[in-house]
Amino acid sequence: MSILDGKKTLVIGGAGEVGEGIVRQFLNAGATVVVPSRSQYRLDELRQRLEGCALSRLITKQAGCGTEAGAMDLYDFVLDELSELDVVVASIGGWWQGDSLLNVPLRLWNQLIENSLTAHFVAAKTFLPLLAEKDDGRYIMLNGGAALKVIANAGPISVSAAAQLVLKDVLVEEMKENNVSINTLLISTPIITRSRDVHKPFWLTADEVGLYTAYLASGDLITVPGETIVLHSREELPVLPL
Ligand SMILES: NC(=O)c1ccc[n+]([C@@H]2O[C@H](COP(=O)([O-])OP(=O)(O)OC[C@H]3O[C@@H](n4cnc5c(N)ncnc54)[C@H](OP(=O)(O)O)[C@@H]3O)[C@@H](O)[C@H]2O)c1
Repeated sequence: MSILDGKKTLVIGGAGEVGEGIVRQFLNAGATVVVPSRSQYRLDELRQRLEGCALSRLITKQAGCGTEAGAMDLYDFVLDELSELDVVVASIGGWWQGDSLLNVPLRLWNQLIENSLTAHFVAAKTFLPLLAEKDDGRYIMLNGGAALKVIANAGPISVSAAAQLVLKDVLVEEMKENNVSINTLLISTPIITRSRDVHKPFWLTADEVGLYTAYLASGDLITVPGETIVLHSREELPVLPL
């Protein structure tokens, strides 16, 4: 019996660097996993990288949750395929470091805020009501160290990451009557992913983040409702057998 056996899950951003580790660990833990991406190519690549996992439980869909239309398309697809959801993980965003804030063109600012903040808002607005229909739905948002410590020349990422923490707090406050748990998992250091060559021994891998997220999703890790869980280093990880 695995910790997510029978769970119906959606990993938004599952084709991304960190998302890949989350999807792999969710599949290994017994979940059925829907993964959307705006790019069919990225979905095909993901399927190849997950060779060895139970791919019959991986359902991919070319869709983006950055717009209401895209998110509704994904919502209809999820209902058709699974009829309900137990867990949603939002591993949305990405990194940018280019210039000081005052030199960031408005168009670029809008694009970065759209990717790192607005897409989280649209995802939550679309899928939290579906989770709230369940007795014990779980919504987990990934976030990074820029939310806590300003990084020069990455201003739009710091601003949207900090705002994403408040977004979660607002959702927790406004949904406190519902039996849905909403948490942020904030990894304060870079994560070792498929395309990161240089790394430090205390950084977590995408698969370690994925396994930790699987435990959060299972309810086996005790979490304070609405908590932001911060991991600074591999040493803070409890031993988590699958
Ligand atoms: N990488 C790290 O070192 C690191 C460290 C700490 C925390 N984190 C956190 O982990 C999360 C994921 O980061 P990552 O490195 O995996 O980023 P990534 O590889 O760029 O993947 C991000 C995902 O977000 C989705 N996305 C971005 N903009 C979107 C939009 N406008 N509409 C819909 N989907 C959108 C992308 O979907 P598509 O597939 O459609 O492109 C992509 O799959 C972020 O919250 C980040 O803060 C990452």
